Amino acid sequence: MPLMEWDESLALDGGVIDDTHKEFVDLLNRMHEAQDEELLDILDQFIAHTEAHFGQEQRWMEELEFPPLTCHVGEHEGVLEIAREVRRRAAAGDANYGKILAQGVAEWFANHATSMDLVLAQYIKERGYVPTAG
Ligand SMILES: [Fe+2]
Ligand SMILES: [Fe+2]
Repeated sequence: MPLMEWDESLALDGGVIDDTHKEFVDLLNRMHEAQDEELLDILDQFIAHTEAHFGQEQRWMEELEFPPLTCHVGEHEGVLEIAREVRRRAAAGDANYGKILAQGVAEWFANHATSMDLVLAQYIKERGYVPTAG
């Protein structure tokens, strides 16, 4: 059974935000199920996805001069910092933190998507802004 399933309760825009979030959830599930020898590779994929995912949200917020930018970006940075630390440990041969990271980030994401990202998606819609990937 997957750690987390993307469902309509997480749907925000029917577009680029949802596509990005589906990929994020898929990577969390893969991290949770990873064998020790697969973990480093999946962590690299997760970190690359997450840098792009958070980077594109930050670019939209900057272009929109979105008022809660600092708070939103601060949450993103906290997640990336922890993921990079788990990656460092995995690279040093300690694969014990992959599942814990996946569980913690899944819990975080259920809140973040339905609060911070939801508000951003509403702001994007109100302003008639067209968010692009990348
Ligand atoms: Fe997001
Ligand atoms: Fe976000």
